[in-house]
Amino acid sequence: MKIMAGNSNLPLARAITGYLETPLTDASVRRFADEEVFVEIHENVRGEDVFVVQSTSYPTNDNLMELLICIDALRRASAKRITAVMPYFGYARQDRKPGPRTPISAKLVANLITQAGADRVLAVDLHAGQIQGFFDIPTDNLFGAPVMAADIQARYGGGDLMVVSPDVGGVVRARALAKRLDNAPLAIVDKRRDKPGQSEVMNIIGDVRGRTCIMIDDIIDSGGTLCNAAQALMDAGAASVTAYISHGVLSGAAVSRVDNSALKELVITDSILPTEATLASKRIRIMTIAPLIGEAIRRIADESSVSSLFD
Ligand code: R5P
Repeated sequence: MKIMAGNSNLPLARAITGYLETPLTDASVRRFADEEVFVEIHENVRGEDVFVVQSTSYPTNDNLMELLICIDALRRASAKRITAVMPYFGYARQDRKPGPRTPISAKLVANLITQAGADRVLAVDLHAGQIQGFFDIPTDNLFGAPVMAADIQARYGGGDLMVVSPDVGGVVRARALAKRLDNAPLAIVDKRRDKPGQSEVMNIIGDVRGRTCIMIDDIIDSGGTLCNAAQALMDAGAASVTAYISHGVLSGAAVSRVDNSALKELVITDSILPTEATLASKRIRIMTIAPLIGEAIRRIADESSVSSLFD
C-alpha cells in the first residue's frame, strides 16, 4: 500500500501516514510558471495499491486538477489500484438541477475522477448519500458521527442534551447522531420565507428550553445557516448551542461571524486545511479524522469490512 498526497491538506495526509506507520510516497505536485499542474512520482508504484489523499476544498478547481493529474500519473506508472481519498468532496452541493439549464456539477466531478483512472473513492460525510451513486466505481462514505458522538458525550454528556438539525434537509444526519447519543431528543430549525423579498423566519420544531443543544451539519461555509440557527435556538430558551460540523469550508467572513455568534463552540474536523483565521479563533476547535481515514484505508487495502467501523 502507498499513500500519496496533493497539496490541499498535507498535515492530514501526514497524520494518516502516521496512523498507518507508512511513509508518504515521494512525489512532487507543483506548478509550471503558467500555473499548470505538474506531478512527478519519484518512486516505483508499479503494481501498488495507491491511495491519493486530496480534499477538493478552496482553491477547489486547482485542488481538483491536482487530484486528476495525480491519478493520471499513477495510472501511467502502472499502479495496480488507485483510490481517490477525498476527506472533503467539493462541488457536492451541486447534486441536482435547482432550475432549468443548470449543471449537476457533482456528477461531472465524479465522471472526471473516474475517467482520470480512479478505481475507488473514499469520502467523508458526503453532502448527500446518493452522491455515492454518481460514481460507477466502489465508493466508501465514512461518517464523522462516531468521533463526534464520543466528543459530545465527554464534553456535553448529561440528561439535557438535544440534537438539532439546522435545516429540514439535515434531519437524517441529526437523527443518526441522536441515536448514538442514547437516543437524545431531536429538534429542527425550519427556515421559512413566506413571500419573496420578506426576511426569513426561523421556526423551531421541538422544545429547546433549558437544553444543551448540539447542532450537526455537513458543511459550514459562510456560517449564515449555523449562526442564524444558533441565535434562533437561544431566543427560544436553549441553555447553550454548540455545533459539530464535518467540513469547515469557512469562506469569506465566516470565522468572524462564528466568533460573534451565539454559538458556544464550533467543532469541525480537519478534512479541510484550516486557515490562519480558523486556527486563531477561540470559538473553533478542530478534531482530527486522520485515524478514521487511516483505519478505512487499512481495511480497504486488507479487503476487510469498512462498514463495521460504524457498528
Ligand atoms: C446545505 O445544504 C449544507 O448542509 C449547509 O447547511 C450549508 O452549505 C451551509 O452554508 P452556509 O454556512 O453558507 O450557510
